[in-house]
Amino acid sequence: MTATPSAPRLGRVPGPAGATPDDLRRHRTARPRRYLMCPPEHFALDYAINAWMTAGDAVDVVRATAQWQALRDTYTALGHEVHVIDPVPGLPDMVFAANGGLVVDGQVMPARFRHAERVGEGPVYREWFRRNGFTPLDSPHVSEGEGDFLVVGRYVLAGTGFRTHHEAHDDAQELLGRPVVTLRLVDPRFYHLDTALAVLDDETVAYYPPAFSPGSLAALRLLFPDAVVAAEPDAMVLGLNAVSDGRHVVLPDTATGLAAQVAARGFVPVPVDLSELRKAGGGPKCCTLELR
Ligand code: ARG
Repeated sequence: MTATPSAPRLGRVPGPAGATPDDLRRHRTARPRRYLMCPPEHFALDYAINAWMTAGDAVDVVRATAQWQALRDTYTALGHEVHVIDPVPGLPDMVFAANGGLVVDGQVMPARFRHAERVGEGPVYREWFRRNGFTPLDSPHVSEGEGDFLVVGRYVLAGTGFRTHHEAHDDAQELLGRPVVTLRLVDPRFYHLDTALAVLDDETVAYYPPAFSPGSLAALRLLFPDAVVAAEPDAMVLGLNAVSDGRHVVLPDTATGLAAQVAARGFVPVPVDLSELRKAGGGPKCCTLELR
């Protein structure tokens, strides 16, 4: 890890102007991460709570499990540590570990799910955090963890509009002591912030502009003038549901345009197939909670 001489400015692209992807790649440093994942043992489409889901559609649990395992192996191969929480029968969306809470500095704001179908996951994740040394700091408001809260350097970007309530953004700032920037989501296909925006490193994001309200889009442009702007075909395969370690960007293999865009910025795209889990509206990021 290289020391940063001065505090990084959000949105700045490191390296001299006119740098080639190769030049930029030399600046991209992977920071080893700790992730929490949950195997899709009980994955099913028993209900539909987002625009991607059709209740009663068939899912292939064996295939979902193989795809999930490949994602887990990808993280391990990149040098990251993966912790696993035991899946609970009757909680088919528990595989989407990102929603379990927001973990910062050894503290966690556990999720409070909006839909009755997922409410039961909250206490299960909370108990895992407590038993593994993370201090739970509870908000009484609806919030869905890293589905709607994304840490960018010292800041937290927070989505609202479909799931996490705005009041929970205030609570995240008060409880965790990180500046929280509210972003309003307007397209039901992009119901969680992590379906519309990916954090690539401490100062770089990629996002899909039509997912945001006009004011939130203006705020994003101000904060991240050099952001990677995703195109519709990539957004429509949940390409922004990506996990970056600062150098490698793990993203859905169907998001080929986005992979090329991040590669042009010197990141290393790592495509994975999570097509079975996409039937529930999830991708690599949804399956991954970072433990900070
Ligand atoms: N079926 C789940 C839901 O609608 C998918 C959650 C995906 N997770 C995420 N971080 N976007 O709640």
